[in-house]
Amino acid sequence: MRGSLIFTSSLILLLHVAWGCPENCSCQTSSKMVDCSYRELLEIPSHVPPQTQILYLQGNQIRIINQTSFANLPGLKILDLSNNSVSIVSPYAFHSLRSLQILNFTKNVIHYLENQVFASLADLKELDLSSNRLFALPESLGNNTRNLTFLGIKQNQLQRIDRSVLELFLNLKVLLGQGNPWHCNCHAMGLKLWMENFLYKGGTIDELTCSTPEHLNGRDLLTVPFEMYKGCPPSPSPYIIGSSHQHNTEHRSNNGRHGHHVDHADGMLHPECEPKPKPRPASLRHAIATVVITGVVCGIVCLMMLAAAVYGCAYAAIMARYHRELKEVEHLAPAGEHGSAEEREPLDRSLA
Ligand SMILES: *[C@@H]1O[C@H](CO)[C@@H](O)[C@H](O)[C@H]1NC(C)=O
Ligand SMILES: *[C@@H]1O[C@H](CO)[C@@H](O)[C@H](O)[C@H]1NC(C)=O
Ligand SMILES: *[C@@H]1O[C@H](CO)[C@@H](O)[C@H](O)[C@H]1NC(C)=O
Ligand SMILES: *[C@@H]1O[C@H](CO)[C@@H](O)[C@H](O)[C@H]1NC(C)=O
Ligand SMILES: *[C@@H]1O[C@H](CO)[C@@H](O)[C@H](O)[C@H]1NC(C)=O
Ligand SMILES: *[C@@H]1O[C@H](CO)[C@@H](O)[C@H](O)[C@H]1NC(C)=O
Repeated sequence: MRGSLIFTSSLILLLHVAWGCPENCSCQTSSKMVDCSYRELLEIPSHVPPQTQILYLQGNQIRIINQTSFANLPGLKILDLSNNSVSIVSPYAFHSLRSLQILNFTKNVIHYLENQVFASLADLKELDLSSNRLFALPESLGNNTRNLTFLGIKQNQLQRIDRSVLELFLNLKVLLGQGNPWHCNCHAMGLKLWMENFLYKGGTIDELTCSTPEHLNGRDLLTVPFEMYKGCPPSPSPYIIGSSHQHNTEHRSNNGRHGHHVDHADGMLHPECEPKPKPRPASLRHAIATVVITGVVCGIVCLMMLAAAVYGCAYAAIMARYHRELKEVEHLAPAGEHGSAEEREPLDRSLA
């Protein structure tokens, strides 16, 4: 009894050594699966067998993915890192995972992903980055991962995503992007057009809820009428998804005012770059124009009245003086008629 127990445990140990199952993980040689989920791991286990195709690491407290983390796992197809504390991902972390098909990163604390981080994953089919703190997606996402069928970016801090990036995913079937503060300006029109086409082709998409501009807050981008984008330039301005920080601060400074009017003044965006609710700005513009015109007219009238007053006063003063002098002349020479004509002339000329 005791002997057989020792025998089996040593057999298991032997198997573990041969297959090299990492400490505290369970391994299944037949399916080439290594399960290290929910083991309170703080790091990626270092001795994962190189033949491994499925690696479960979810539900641990892993914080860093460095460039050697998966360096000797070229056959890996499924990698689940969901529900960890990952905040730092080396740009070379996945460079040797050329067969990876599913990468699950949900429920971590990633703020930033390097441009080329997924560049080697040409076979990637499902990428889940939901429930992180991403402000932008890597710019070259889609450049090499064109076989993606599932993209999860729910519950992040994303404001925009380039239509040109989405258009690279020719096989995409599902896009989940709810719970982001989407910025539904003119740039979003490209996204909206892409979404409509995507749905038409049978794709699945959840709700992309607008956060800004203020008057579209809470609105599903799909339900924003195209009429709102009438003033937009025909081809949306070439924003890249990585430039969200700048617009972030821009919009924070606009809080409490009407973003679409302030943006005009900023000169950062195209003059017509915000979709606008029609009635208010029109009447507002009329009101401003009326005030300006009234002001200008009043000013002109005032100036004219001032000129007239000055003219009148001067005329009155000169006439008074003339009459006084005339009286004096009459006083001195009551019968002198010739003098008055001579003296009136220069006065008239001076007034003219
Ligand atoms: C394995 O589990 C034991 C007991 O829970 C723990 O003391 C040990 O540190 C773990 N090893 C690793 C590599 O996490
Ligand atoms: C990568 O992380 C592992 C632990 O997960 C560590 O042993 C190794 O030294 C690190 N390598 C580099 C290059 O930082
Ligand atoms: C996430 O992992 C923790 C342990 O690290 C666990 O308690 C929790 O239930 C997990 N949550 C989900 C949604 O799996
Ligand atoms: C990633 O894992 C979460 C749970 O941790 C799960 O809800 C989600 O469906 C997974 N995503 C994919 C693409 O498998
Ligand atoms: C996409 O998948 C096809 C077949 O599934 C494969 O031949 C190709 O190499 C993959 N990668 C790219 C970038 O098309
Ligand atoms: C994406 O690929 C194109 C060529 O296919 C290249 O011109 C462009 O620079 C790449 N973008 C990034 C961000 O790597």
